[in-house]
Amino acid sequence: MDEKMKQIEQTLSKYGQEQLLDEYNRLTDENQKHEFLDSILSIDFNQVKTLYEQGQKETVFVNSKIEPIEYVDKSKLTKEEYEELYNIGADQIKKGKLAVVTMAGGQGTRLGHEGPKGTYDLGLDTHKSLFEILTDIFIKAKKEYEVEIPWYIMTSDENDDETEKFFERNQYFGYSKNCITFFKQGKLPMTSTDGKLLIDEHHKIKEASDGHGGIFRSMIDDGVLYDMKARGIEWIFIGGVDNVLVKPIDPIFVGLAIKKNVLAAGKSIVKASPTEKVGVFCKRNGRPSVIEYSEIKPEMAEKRDENGELVYGESHILCNLFNIKAIEKVGKMQLPYHIAVKKASYIDKDGNLVKPEKPNAYKFEAFLFDAFEALDNIAILRVLREEEFAPVKNADGEDSPETARKLYNSFFKK
Ligand code: UTP
Repeated sequence: MDEKMKQIEQTLSKYGQEQLLDEYNRLTDENQKHEFLDSILSIDFNQVKTLYEQGQKETVFVNSKIEPIEYVDKSKLTKEEYEELYNIGADQIKKGKLAVVTMAGGQGTRLGHEGPKGTYDLGLDTHKSLFEILTDIFIKAKKEYEVEIPWYIMTSDENDDETEKFFERNQYFGYSKNCITFFKQGKLPMTSTDGKLLIDEHHKIKEASDGHGGIFRSMIDDGVLYDMKARGIEWIFIGGVDNVLVKPIDPIFVGLAIKKNVLAAGKSIVKASPTEKVGVFCKRNGRPSVIEYSEIKPEMAEKRDENGELVYGESHILCNLFNIKAIEKVGKMQLPYHIAVKKASYIDKDGNLVKPEKPNAYKFEAFLFDAFEALDNIAILRVLREEEFAPVKNADGEDSPETARKLYNSFFKK
């Protein structure tokens, strides 16, 4: 037996992953066989084992000191305050110091749309896709600030090709092609709920994107940060692909971060009720953080201040601004991984493709907001839900195309 095969068999047996050889034995094409063995060799089995074992443990939240975080309410700024922040921010935008990153690497499993989520037709009279709705913002900003804002779109292995082709086919929706850059986020193997690596429909080891927290490392690895520096970018708005009221080019937001002398800022909206399942901004052991709904104690979630407002009521909506220095710092760190249980099709031991009805596999994801704790302070800008937050998450019901369409139409009618 050749050395390579021997080494692989030893590793697979050490980590209890011998089932991968069922697939190898089924392959008939010599090239495919070699590729398959190489892909086994590229797996960090120890990392997979650790990630899986962490997922088995019940989440125990370390006792940390949680305190409310200060915020600025955009709708309550005086005319003078508004103008001051506007002027600071608009000046940066006009000087070409702002870039936007849209995270479009997710799987969009809840929406269930075939293809990248950004290609989804929201069902407006114009039949615009989520990507076209976003492009409109850049075209409008070009007129307003007389500058073409660089737009970086983070895709994943699963949807990169389709995303780029979609833009190409639609002539970049009228925005300059050289202002749009695609880059791919990192990935990690998925496992079954009993820790076994899976085979995907392309007869490869099943992998998935490593969560939106993977963005910082990918920006460095894929040369995005380098490109931004070359263009003289200072501030980077990072948001998701699925909020059709997102305001990524917001002078008030940039102005606030500069005025407060911080390296990052987050937009919040008021939590709809104490039990709403959203993460909220807070301070954890004196550092900026987001406390997840599963982590917050009921008495804390219900606590109100003298004005009757929730003390922990600033929901994180994945609309954040980072200085390039913050990205450089966080990109060098390893953010923790969290486990999501997802539906994942796979090839079973007899070579049949299984499309599960229920979640059957673990996906390991880093969360973007875990980066905040690496920074001394961040500024929070509270914005109005009806002006800046209309997410498309589920196929129907809450946060669905129907609710997003309504919010979008009523905002633009105004
Ligand atoms: P969500 O966590 O809502 O995930 O992502 P999703 O992929 O859109 O949908 P589900 O959970 O599978 O139904 C919030 C934003 O972060 C991006 C998504 O594309 C979306 O814009 N994201 C998420 C990534 O770019 N990469 C990831 O690995 C995960």
